[in-house]
Amino acid sequence: MARIGVIGAGYVGLTTAACFARLGHTVVCADVDEGKVSALSRAEIGAHEPGLAELVAEGLRDRRLRFVLGNAEALSDVDFVFLCVPTPTGEDGAADLSAVHAVLLEARDAVRPGCVLVIKSTVPAGTAELVAQLVGRSDVQVVSNPEFLREGHAVDDFLRPQRVVVGAEAEEAARRVVALYAGTGAPALVTGSASAELVKYASNCFLAMKLSYVNSLAELCERVGADIGDVTEGMRLDDRIGAAFLEPGPGWGGSCFPKDTRALLSTAEDARVDFPLLRATIGTNGHQARRVVGLVRDAVGGRLDGVRLGLLGLTFKAGTDDLRDSPALAVASLLAEEGARLTGYDPCVSADCGPVRVRESAEAVADSADGLVVLTEWPEFAELDWPHLAATMTRPVIVDTRNLLPVEKVTEAGFHLVSLGRPTAAR
Ligand code: NAD
Ligand code: UGA
Repeated sequence: MARIGVIGAGYVGLTTAACFARLGHTVVCADVDEGKVSALSRAEIGAHEPGLAELVAEGLRDRRLRFVLGNAEALSDVDFVFLCVPTPTGEDGAADLSAVHAVLLEARDAVRPGCVLVIKSTVPAGTAELVAQLVGRSDVQVVSNPEFLREGHAVDDFLRPQRVVVGAEAEEAARRVVALYAGTGAPALVTGSASAELVKYASNCFLAMKLSYVNSLAELCERVGADIGDVTEGMRLDDRIGAAFLEPGPGWGGSCFPKDTRALLSTAEDARVDFPLLRATIGTNGHQARRVVGLVRDAVGGRLDGVRLGLLGLTFKAGTDDLRDSPALAVASLLAEEGARLTGYDPCVSADCGPVRVRESAEAVADSADGLVVLTEWPEFAELDWPHLAATMTRPVIVDTRNLLPVEKVTEAGFHLVSLGRPTAAR
């Protein structure tokens, strides 16, 4: 079993630390956020992530997991250091690597001979090689090990991954990193470091492309009288297309797809590779939020100024409390720009978000509203008491951007229901 240092205790760092502890390794997890470190030391994870708080508590109890303020301890006296710091969008669209660089400046004198520096943060192709130069130590190997977990499934995705990808110039160091995952039974792919770095962007951008494609198809369905549910069902039956990531929505968001699509485009531009497909993927997503606003405007009678709208769902997808780059909030901002007055309900959000006054229940946002808009696919929204909601609204109008609601029940309750890519259902 190895001694592992994890730098950054966010979604990826905390999951990495807790799951490696579960796999039997000894882990020190460092962060620069004092409040976060003290909360984590009490097993308070501050995020909605099934199973993670329990794993953290288990690691602390069994003394295989510790949280520390500042990176010194997690860099020295360990066999592996995992960098899990943020790589947000920089001013020019490229990934901003300043947090990675800051850690490296500390790491280069602090790590022991034989230590492997593992870059788990999502970084552009070529970064591991630059990092190796910056660290400048022949007794330290640099390895790329991108992370593919999804928020809301982080623990499961880490402990039962579909693949472990490890890239390095020195294969022996890559094999040592693969061995850390032995307990997961996942297939491992060992590549050069630039390839491993690119697998990460290629995967996220491909999924985003698939979603933009489906969102455009939904618009086309509305114009030609087709049903996107039937169209995607027909596509799903073809193994070559794959069954997942075919649900239309208000646009794709979250902390990674938006930044990673822009970063890959920036990498392509730097390499003088024209990538129109990626540009269109991003452009189509911006269009999707505006298109949803158009559907809402039409549904409530052609104007949004002064219209009271209740938003159902604010997080970027169901199963998480993460609001970063949420398409729901992008739609909310555009609605507010046109003068709509917004209340919102989300099972995982309690504080007001930008122009949205957050209420305690779906019933509270429906009360006296001129329309409802479903923006996140929380399953509980499909179970609401539609006749009751319709009775408390000024006009029973609902736009379902996730095609989540039971059409018959909702229309029987008197609602005018607008879905994406389906014929509009009115009683
Ligand atoms: P996050 O914002 O949730 O957490 C990052 C943590 O790093 C924060 O706690 C922050 O305080 C800490 N930090 C910042 N600078 C530091 C420093 N110099 N030293 C120590 N700690 C520092 O970020 P995240 O979502 O975990 O993402 C981290 C990386 O993983 C990004 O590159 C992201 O693209 C990638 N990634 C994220 C996900 C995801 O689902 N969130 C999935 C796969 C990959
Ligand atoms: C995504 C990837 O799925 C992970 O593999 C990756 O590790 C991670 O990004 C990352 O690099 O951070 P995540 O951001 O948690 O994970 O979210 P997803 O579940 O992929 O959803 C992304 C967006 O697509 C959400 O807004 C979601 O609502 C939307 N979506 C997804 C749809 O609109 N339709 C679908 O069919 C699926």
